[in-house]
Amino acid sequence: MIIARTTVELRAALDSKTGSIGFVPTMGALHVGHRTLIEKARRENDVVVVSIFVNPTQFLAGEDLSKYPRKEEADFKICELCGVDVLFYPEINTMYGKDEVGIKCPDIRGYILEGASRPGHFDGVLTVVMKLLNLVRASRVYFGKKDAQQLSLITQMVENYFMNVEIIAVDTVRESDGLALSSRNVYLSQEERIDALKLSASLKKATHLVMQGVIETKAISNAMMGILQPLKVEYVAIVNRRFEAIPEVIIGDTIVLIAARVGSTRLIDNVWM
Ligand code: PAF
Repeated sequence: MIIARTTVELRAALDSKTGSIGFVPTMGALHVGHRTLIEKARRENDVVVVSIFVNPTQFLAGEDLSKYPRKEEADFKICELCGVDVLFYPEINTMYGKDEVGIKCPDIRGYILEGASRPGHFDGVLTVVMKLLNLVRASRVYFGKKDAQQLSLITQMVENYFMNVEIIAVDTVRESDGLALSSRNVYLSQEERIDALKLSASLKKATHLVMQGVIETKAISNAMMGILQPLKVEYVAIVNRRFEAIPEVIIGDTIVLIAARVGSTRLIDNVWM
């Protein structure tokens, strides 16, 4: 595995390879969810590139960037074991200069749900993803469905800017008890971990209701809120793939999303229908 720390090293590494490039951008602290993305990229491409970069522009003032989990040694090992060809591991000043042109997320879709509690977060995500895609020039880029709004906005950016990359959306990986894998799960105490199961339980309830023919989104979100008590729920939202609120579930075009605090840890989860 080639470890490229600069854009010059990355270009040299990519120039030494031929064939399709599958790219998995990450912020490190790799877990089984990331491994699933990398393994899928490995199966579907000649060359696999992973980036590890804790992107400062997607953290808001007051969010502690220095507290984001960093596990360099373990991450390198995981990439090596998963057959990654090139690991891009840049410094902040490789990725950003001063007073730069940035990408701005759309006024509505970028500022609802996750964007409402973290205004400006998606500007940072889109800017860094644009930079990484320009550097790696991947054939396919892999994202988890768990960050559904991020995935939807990146898909829109790729369309709006006529970018030549195929976006592959990969199902959320869960523990055997249903908890969606997340780098934040390490912050949960044993008791909180049990409470956190309410998120996946409420999504299961939503799926069950739809299977029984209940498609009114109000009825579904009320039933979910019942299960989520007494967690501090930030939102339960039922939207179409363009993140517009809908009165009724449309199979094939619906995402049910939750954000809730379990203790001081903010968790998100969703199900695509
Ligand atoms: O989902 C993430 O880990 C990040 O938002 C991403 C896409 C790597 C951009 O920093």
